[in-house]
Amino acid sequence: MPHRTCLSIVLAAGLGTRMRSKLPKVLHEIGGLSMISHVLNTVQAAGSDAIAVVIGPQMDELETQLRARENVAPFVQNERLGTAHAVLAARRALESGADDILVLFGDTPLVTSGTIARVREALSAGADMVVVGFEAENPFGYGRLLMDGDRLAAIREEKDASASERVATFCNSGIMGFSGVHALRILDAIGNQNTKGEYYLTDAVEIANAQSLKVVAVSAEEDEVQGINTKGQLAKCEAVFQAKMRQAAMENGVTLIAPETVFFAHDTRLAADVVVEQNVVFAAGVSVEDGARIRAFSHLEGAKVGAGSVVGPYARLRPGATLSDQSHIGNFVEIKNATIGVGAKVNHVSYIGDASVGSRSNVGAGTITCNYDGINKHRTEIGAGSFVGSNSTLVAPVSLGTGAYVAAGSVVTDPVPRDALAVGRQRQVNKEGRAKTLRAKLQAQKDKTR
Ligand code: UD1
Ligand code: MG
Repeated sequence: MPHRTCLSIVLAAGLGTRMRSKLPKVLHEIGGLSMISHVLNTVQAAGSDAIAVVIGPQMDELETQLRARENVAPFVQNERLGTAHAVLAARRALESGADDILVLFGDTPLVTSGTIARVREALSAGADMVVVGFEAENPFGYGRLLMDGDRLAAIREEKDASASERVATFCNSGIMGFSGVHALRILDAIGNQNTKGEYYLTDAVEIANAQSLKVVAVSAEEDEVQGINTKGQLAKCEAVFQAKMRQAAMENGVTLIAPETVFFAHDTRLAADVVVEQNVVFAAGVSVEDGARIRAFSHLEGAKVGAGSVVGPYARLRPGATLSDQSHIGNFVEIKNATIGVGAKVNHVSYIGDASVGSRSNVGAGTITCNYDGINKHRTEIGAGSFVGSNSTLVAPVSLGTGAYVAAGSVVTDPVPRDALAVGRQRQVNKEGRAKTLRAKLQAQKDKTR
């Protein structure tokens, strides 16, 4: 079959006033990734040759993000006059043409490339226009698809629907496909004679029918195409996304002891035989290798966990934490921008930041790397096979040679040579019998004041 070229137009100019936020609606995140990036990744995966994104004026941050992506061109819709008007803001892209023209909404982030592929199949099988519909549990607010047998006759917006049309539960997801031959002619014919006085993209259906074109609907699951207009719907979409991520992890061989308490980011990568205990959060940028165990109540972000390692309970791995195989990070330990060597252990209440810990080293309870002097960050290098006694303070920049040993309670400010013992504190002094005389003296003072 000859390659069909594809232009995707993603609408993102709506302010989303019902979100009650300063942030443009499509920059709100699902699984730690903006809604618009979810849609762009999906249309890219579905084989778009070009992507036009329609944004509003003064959406500078969004525009910068879009310009950084390949094959993506932003178009500004200066007045928000409706979804059809928005599509035409990308007129230059439409004029350069494509076999398949897809329209997607930036506020419908969970659409899959499989659904987009079905729209394109219908176009290549001869449809002139395709609309993705779904059975809505609660259709309120969605446009209704009015079917006439296999033919899609019209889409009626909530505000314009009659009582009998409102009963319909087959709804418009907003995702549409047009044959490139007809797209501009249909779009240019759309007017704004409706309750909201907007140019509705949904009117394209009746216009195409009036031109004797073939208009069909394909259906998708509601979970995949629900739109986000409110914070409540954002949370609902997040829940759907999390359920999918948990299911996928388990299908890949990950053990989730209480799946509904584990939260994923869009890019979380867990290998087979990883065990994740209850109440764990994976923020963006985490990978965990085979057989590692993430114990309860841990929070991980931008971190790599090597095979067979144990993290937590109550551990915090921040960006740049790289744990080699078989390492142990225990309770109330924070690791940031630090490499932990093979088999090394940092097991209790410690902060290790801007550091490297050599293989098989043991970092005792309460160890702190003082990495920040209020102006600059400095590194701490701990050699392989070292032992850092409990409650030590390592004032960076500082290094411990291979096999070094730091006495408990030390403040280490100078480098410790290989195999040396560092005692960075006052040595203990014992005064024989002084406990007794001290107590007697104190008691006498107390008796005198009575
Ligand atoms: C729209 C559809 C409705 C469908 C629903 C699915 C129309 C007229 N209605 O309603 O049939 O069931 O989505 O979620 O198409 N946008 C612009 N510029 C504009 C207006 C909107 O870029 O002038 C963008 C928005 O940023 C958003 C998308 O288009 O990404 C949809 O707009 P929205 O206002 O959310 O439409 P709905 O009322 O949800
Ligand atoms: Mg919407």
